[in-house]
Amino acid sequence: MQKYKQAADYIEKLAGKAEIGLVLGSGLGGYEQRLEKPVFIPYKDIPGFPISTVQGHKGQLAIGNYLGKKIIILCGRFHYYEGYSLQEVTMYVRVMKLLGVKTLLLSNAAGGVNRSFNPGDLMLIKDYINLSGNNPLIGKNEDDFGPRFPDMTNAFDSSLRGIAKEQAAKLGINLKEGVYAQFSGPSYESPAEIKMAGILGADAVGMSTVPETIVARHCGIRVLGISAITNMAAGITGQAISHKEVMDTGKQVTESFSKLMDAIIEKI
Ligand code: HPA
Repeated sequence: MQKYKQAADYIEKLAGKAEIGLVLGSGLGGYEQRLEKPVFIPYKDIPGFPISTVQGHKGQLAIGNYLGKKIIILCGRFHYYEGYSLQEVTMYVRVMKLLGVKTLLLSNAAGGVNRSFNPGDLMLIKDYINLSGNNPLIGKNEDDFGPRFPDMTNAFDSSLRGIAKEQAAKLGINLKEGVYAQFSGPSYESPAEIKMAGILGADAVGMSTVPETIVARHCGIRVLGISAITNMAAGITGQAISHKEVMDTGKQVTESFSKLMDAIIEKI
């Protein structure tokens, strides 16, 4: 608790509290520019915060008002494959909780497993499969944040999903919906792993989001998850997957992603 409080106190002194948290996934950066008079805080300045190393992630928090709400944006998240523990990967969630965040909006880039998807689609996450082989809550339970055995029945909040679907329809955005499976990465999955994920019920695969969702639900934060389908997953088209393709497609969907985010935030 001490280390979360230290980080939260540091942020609060510079930028105050916030009610909504937003995480921008690979290629989806830029949304922070919408904030009115944002305060930017580099991760390296926040006591105890890990530093994001992946290309395409900026490594800073942006905090400010937008659409009448106080929002804290994580421009670049932390990944398990970077070598951090899942406690480090998810530290920001508990810091957000201490800053007053009630709703966490998570985005990511993902590979499409469902063959009806296309690169450039947005997918609302309705549930997850944790294939990372780890869980961020392993270890002594932090009773001040939540219970030892938290429920994950409504991990992705059904009322937030309802808002997302309604707003996408209004905007004419063809929002897909599906199950997100998390592999650890950093290698992209093998075609056999993708076949397995599909059989298990996954519609998309990625390397993030699940640990944060678990920690957010543990401490009672509502979660909405949106995946940008940046490529078809391994073996589906036979084409090799590249980080460049992921980033380029992420950038292409940024506009519709941002419009949808605006509409959702307005309704929260
Ligand atoms: N697999 C895992 N993570 C990803 C992918 C993928 O195909 N695309 C974007 N992130």
